[in-house]
Amino acid sequence: MGHHSPHTEISSRRDFLRWLAASPLLAAIPGCAPASTGSGRGIPGAAIPAAVPAPTLHDLVTTATDALDVFDMEKVAETTVPPAHFGYIQTGVDGEETQRNNRAALERIYIRARRLIDVSRLDTRVTLFGREWPTPIVIAPCGSQRGFHAEGELATARAAQAREHLLALSTVSSTGVEDVNEARGEPVWYQLYATSNWDVTRAVVERVRTAGCPVVVLTVDLPGGSNRLTLERWSRTDDRTCNSCHRPRGRAPTVKPMFQGTDYRPGDFRTPGMTWDFIGRLREITDQRIVVKGLMTQEDATLALDHGVDGIWVSNHGGRAEGSGQATIDALPEIASAVAGRVPVIVDGGFRRGSDIFKGIARGADAVAVGRPYLWGLGAFGQAGVERVLEILSDELRITMRLAGTPTLASIAGSSVGTG
Ligand code: FNR
Ligand code: LAC
Repeated sequence: MGHHSPHTEISSRRDFLRWLAASPLLAAIPGCAPASTGSGRGIPGAAIPAAVPAPTLHDLVTTATDALDVFDMEKVAETTVPPAHFGYIQTGVDGEETQRNNRAALERIYIRARRLIDVSRLDTRVTLFGREWPTPIVIAPCGSQRGFHAEGELATARAAQAREHLLALSTVSSTGVEDVNEARGEPVWYQLYATSNWDVTRAVVERVRTAGCPVVVLTVDLPGGSNRLTLERWSRTDDRTCNSCHRPRGRAPTVKPMFQGTDYRPGDFRTPGMTWDFIGRLREITDQRIVVKGLMTQEDATLALDHGVDGIWVSNHGGRAEGSGQATIDALPEIASAVAGRVPVIVDGGFRRGSDIFKGIARGADAVAVGRPYLWGLGAFGQAGVERVLEILSDELRITMRLAGTPTLASIAGSSVGTG
């Protein structure tokens, strides 16, 4: 990327903390010393003289394990990821109503906690297409990860391996599928952006089939661009050269690794003419499982089943494709009931805590995927950051299951949640 080293700032903050630890000032931080008086800045109640910069929350998150929730990672990533790239992670479309509604709808749902159930042993295993996973938390396909950390998709894949999570790799990844599979230790699911050039699409599918990817996740919610204002605003503040995602204005973009060796041209990315027949065409060229990503209505879920898909991924692209305003957690029940257990259902969009994952399962998903949270971890601390995000979400899910009286995923039912 040729940007500043993302971790410079952090390490100087770490130096500051080291200095602080060696100084009597630490005695003024609550928890480290007898009761403090005064009003230091940053930490409530800390008596730090005004001349010394008080640690802020960000200062205290100097390693991945310091992050207490995924939002701590977001704060760190904002300072370590170059602005244009951070804008790319954060962006929604239009006024970002859809992105906000994904969260708001989750927050409106409450958990109906049951008591006096034996929760001394928890089981979070889920089986998808005959493969058992220890956790229902899935790593959603997100493009251009070298824009967030030098190790990009490889760091994410290693984290997925370390914590045994299902990972889907984006078509617009900054690392080819073969290297990602190697870093993951087994073939990943592959997210396919069909192009409008069939020869290119066929070559990509053939490549990932040869690489051993068992599942193609066909994303269908981005037929032709999207109106990303946050991305545009942050990009204007950052015109450095970047070969992995945002090119300097007027220059040709670098061809993404998954399109290299094909006749791909930038315009091919738009697929406004794609219809349900495409599933059949895909079926003709591959024996991989086909999951369709980006469905939001029971009508489309029914059509997908009619066209023989193997799985359904409920998604509005994290509010960065359509500006429909519909939250994925609200679309999930009608889709889950149309599917009626015939194929696996995955959902994503705004899931930020274990309790959110719980709500997704309660409303009918077999597994729940996250996008931005792990990108924040990646941008903040590389592989360790992704691992920590997965750990936080897994720990939170287990705590939620215990408190709700639901020791297995199967015991998390529609009646486990309500809407206020
Ligand atoms: C994405 N997403 C995405 N989806 C996809 O099918 N192919 C892709 O290449 C990308 N790229 C991408 C990049 C970035 C930076 C983000 C944030 C998202 C969408 C992703 O798979 C997922 O649907 C959402 O990220 C889920 O919402 P949350 O968890 O980010 O709110
Ligand atoms: C995005 C595309 C790459 O959401 O899916 O940025």
